[in-house]
Amino acid sequence: MSTVLVTGGAGYVGSHAVKVLAAAGFEVVVLDSLVNGHREAVSEYVLVEADVSDTAVVRETIRRHAVTAVLHFAAFLSVGESVQAPVRYYDNNVRKTLALLESVVEESVRRFVFSSTAAVYGTPHDVPIVEDHPTRPINAYGQTKLAIEHALPHYETAYGLRYTCLRYFNAAGADPSGELGEDHRPEIHLIPLALAAAAGARPPLEIFGDDYPTTDGTCERDYVHVTDLAQAHVLALGRLAAGAQSTSYNLANGRAYSVRDVLDSVERVVGQPVPCHVVGRRSGDPAVLVASSQRAREELGWAPRFEAIDDIVRTAWQWRRTHPAGYRSRP
Ligand code: UFG
Repeated sequence: MSTVLVTGGAGYVGSHAVKVLAAAGFEVVVLDSLVNGHREAVSEYVLVEADVSDTAVVRETIRRHAVTAVLHFAAFLSVGESVQAPVRYYDNNVRKTLALLESVVEESVRRFVFSSTAAVYGTPHDVPIVEDHPTRPINAYGQTKLAIEHALPHYETAYGLRYTCLRYFNAAGADPSGELGEDHRPEIHLIPLALAAAAGARPPLEIFGDDYPTTDGTCERDYVHVTDLAQAHVLALGRLAAGAQSTSYNLANGRAYSVRDVLDSVERVVGQPVPCHVVGRRSGDPAVLVASSQRAREELGWAPRFEAIDDIVRTAWQWRRTHPAGYRSRP
């Protein structure tokens, strides 16, 4: 079985993917700077502690482990921060990814799976979003991901690098066996913040705007379980290995849940109300992001196991109960 290099493999989606890849029989090498990743999340795997832009280390790692495919998760992901600090996002998500791609093509790796995002679409004019919907990001984060999506076809033409862009909608939940979970520092995502607020471990949740053109005025998102996302990477690799063409896939459940729907779900799962109040909108937030993943289902054979929001939230709650301080909670 071939060896895959997983950048950002100690992060949230990356670590879940590493587990699923290993279970599918892949040899996995994780490359992570640990700026945001957690060593504890990948303790069973080979970890190279380095930045993706460290060309010497990346190239040596590819050679030493005879890497045949790269899965690139390492990135900054905060929509709000990207609007405030675009320099950080262009530097990390564009410049460093181009450096990684240079190492990849120089070492003759020919398969690349890229963690892209719903944010490439901007404000959709038609929902559910399909892959050929126009891509007009409204925040720097989405723009940086799209920049790489736009570079990849040129790398394919010039260097024969075949790729799959996986456009994640809202990654949520935690490894059902309880080993892995979401641990961002600082945490910015709705579900972990709402769980912490319900548990009394944080101040009341701030709802970022209730004057959007949605059913209840709060933003609607398409939540997809992190283990289902992870599974899609295994399928994408298999498809590339079988010689399929480069393309992009939405990874989504096709169900829109408003911020208030999510808070209701958290209340059902935790059995406690979520203290909250409405504040102003956060810049860079589209009102609705919901997608069709029919292409991924048909072409990759992707079949998400978690669709209902309560099932997703339940796994996140299980992680929080056993790891109230994230990975630092471990004995
Ligand atoms: N929200 C709040 N209060 C909070 C946190 C979030 O109201 O304290 C709202 C946001 O405004 C948004 C929704 O809850 O409407 C979800 O917010 P998240 O921060 O959890 O997720 P985002 O939709 O902003 O972004 C996430 C990833 C991005 C990815 C996007 C794809 O962080 O990387 O999903 O849809 F691009």
